[in-house]
Amino acid sequence: MLVFGCAEKKIETAKAQIIPMPVNQEFRDGHFVLSSETEINFEEEFNVAGNFLKAFLEPTLKKKKGVENKINFVKDTSILNPEGYRIEVNPIHIKISATTAQGAFYAVQTLRQLLPAELETGKLKRKDIAIAATKISDQPQFSYRGMHLDVARHMFSVKFIKKYIDALAMLKMNTFHWHLTDDQGWRIEIKQYPKLQEVAAFRDETLIGHYSDQPHRFDGKRYGGYYTQEEIKDIVAYAQERFVTIIPEIEMPGHAQAAIAAYPELGCASTLRHSSGQEASATDEPVEVAKEWGVFEEIYCPNKKTFAFLEGVLDEVLELFPSKYIHIGGDEAPKTRWENCAHCQALIKKEGLKDEHELQSYFITKMEKYLNSKGRQIIGWDEILEGGLAPNATVMSWRGTSGAVEAAKAGHNVVMTPTSHCYFDYYQSENEDEPLAIGGFLPLEKVYGFNPIPEELTTEESTYVLGAQGNIWTEYIPTEDQLEYMAFPRMLAMSEVVWSKPENKNHEDFVLRLEQFHKRLDVLNVNYANHLYEIDGNVVSQNDTTYYKLETLTKGKTIRYTLDGSEPDLNSKIYQSQIPISQSTTIKAAVFKDKKQLGKTFTQNINFHKAVGAKITINKTPHKAYSGSGAKGLINGISGSDSRYGDKEWLGFWGEDIEVTIYFEKPIIINSIETRFYDGNGQWIYAPKHIAMRVIFDNDEIIANKFLPESSENPNLKQVFCEQPILSNRPVKTIKLLVPNYGTIPEGKQGAGNKAWTFIDEIIVN
Ligand code: ACM
Ligand code: ZN
Repeated sequence: MLVFGCAEKKIETAKAQIIPMPVNQEFRDGHFVLSSETEINFEEEFNVAGNFLKAFLEPTLKKKKGVENKINFVKDTSILNPEGYRIEVNPIHIKISATTAQGAFYAVQTLRQLLPAELETGKLKRKDIAIAATKISDQPQFSYRGMHLDVARHMFSVKFIKKYIDALAMLKMNTFHWHLTDDQGWRIEIKQYPKLQEVAAFRDETLIGHYSDQPHRFDGKRYGGYYTQEEIKDIVAYAQERFVTIIPEIEMPGHAQAAIAAYPELGCASTLRHSSGQEASATDEPVEVAKEWGVFEEIYCPNKKTFAFLEGVLDEVLELFPSKYIHIGGDEAPKTRWENCAHCQALIKKEGLKDEHELQSYFITKMEKYLNSKGRQIIGWDEILEGGLAPNATVMSWRGTSGAVEAAKAGHNVVMTPTSHCYFDYYQSENEDEPLAIGGFLPLEKVYGFNPIPEELTTEESTYVLGAQGNIWTEYIPTEDQLEYMAFPRMLAMSEVVWSKPENKNHEDFVLRLEQFHKRLDVLNVNYANHLYEIDGNVVSQNDTTYYKLETLTKGKTIRYTLDGSEPDLNSKIYQSQIPISQSTTIKAAVFKDKKQLGKTFTQNINFHKAVGAKITINKTPHKAYSGSGAKGLINGISGSDSRYGDKEWLGFWGEDIEVTIYFEKPIIINSIETRFYDGNGQWIYAPKHIAMRVIFDNDEIIANKFLPESSENPNLKQVFCEQPILSNRPVKTIKLLVPNYGTIPEGKQGAGNKAWTFIDEIIVN
């Protein structure tokens, strides 16, 4: 509890309100009064933390003498983790112990969260503040605690980048992965290569709407810019003062179209594309800085000019960024140019390489050698495993976790950032009025539930997992407000994933602390998303009866609902126990507190079709990141979202043929069977080309082969439908759906060469 102005005004605060959750916090009787007499004492070694605290408390502290009221920083080498700290608050003093400046800094970030949020504004003047006596000892679970930001697709101001770094520091995150170059823009000033500034930093126009909207339309506005070296130095110094390491990412060999637009000789020559035999110095058509999203075929040619260019670029990068790691990208590099380039083919022969994947490995290894010779280490996306991993490389695992498993088993360090749990450019709510996002569905709770250690690793192997990071790709994030909306509060959940021990994590408790933390984010002027007052609904079946269960994340609130399609209000029924369902219904519900509706109204249509309540099996287990409500979810009366394939209703399978079987206890006459598949090719999701439906009667069966139509109203969905007379009016015992996987993703598409995902929705039987 915090008390202002000598107990005349009290503010209740939840006791455990720190994010990320400390390892250990005990509460004691009494409190320390932070007042105008409080002294802050620290040795030079703890300058950063001490000065941060001083500045934070400035308006409150006015020096007076002779009163025993101190905040003391103490070096304590018995604290073994360099990022660890202890705080003791008692009526006489606050003692902050740490073994390093960074540990002391994290102690101050914790102390900050024990103080009223209003202090953040610097406007809370000359009040005494009581801090409940407590003892905290704390240290991180992982040494790599990061957030990524793509500034190539959209760019953000220096002021904003500093605000982002401030948030990382407050949450004890220590790494900012700055994605500085991509097809749509080169954002770091490189003095040796002025065309990077003149050409590569600008695109002529930008795609409007989503990539899957057809036809593509453009806004006609030139877009771009770059960070000058002076700005970058300023940002790096700012981050250092907050113990945030910036890892710059210079993408290679792919995502290089902007650089190739500026310097065409960095791309593959077109000798094999034309059979004239004459060596050209550039690609066929002039390449421009990309105006739309996706994966592009223009990649660096592994020739002398390219290596000289990249080494020159890296020389300047190394001057600006003191980080141990340099991120060299490595993801999504289509090999078509290399396959058709005389130089590349000759190089493959000369080096005795097997194929273009080994050529990529040759490329990355060469760059690794260069960076190692300068005392740095490389980190790259998990594609750098293909064709052989460079000897000292750290792998950033984004396509699921298998890259991490492979790398860790081979003794390489890994950073976890799988799309399923770490891509904050995905939708975070099922509300249809969310701002346009790339796709997917990653609600706060799923981020919070992430365990960076893949199950497949032994304890020994798991020591190679350095930590995890949230990624923010900005194709669909043009403004700083929207970026904050996507980043918060998922960044808070990620901070706890990487800092706190799994046994100290508790989602319900996190939500309570987050509700408190809203105040701090408000005064810090952060445009966070608030989905805490949304309702979570689930079908449950018990003793052959189907029920619908409503829940809300935060306690002490009332849920009211209707079943007739009307909007819930203060007169609607209060939800007390799960609602029995025996026919098709629309449930609408909302959370109320103090006679006010909080959050948005939840709507769920339940289609009580003939398979609801039947038995179902699938011959394969859905991918663990996309297991929805399990097999049962395919016949629970609820269809998945039209735009969020990662919700509870869609089931995802990676590269597998699947067979779904629905059994009816009592054979029934049916008139139709229908289902649908997601077809989000940008996210590697492909509807099957065809499926087979087997309908089994008493002693025979029919098989209907169904090709999936090329396009439908929603380009992301493909429907299949089977109806009478083929079902022949006889009682059906079993329905089987045979769903072959689409196969390998074709060349020219995102993720080419990888297995496609299959996502299947409700199987509706009427
Ligand atoms: C990535 O998302 N292409 C690393
Ligand atoms: Zn080439």
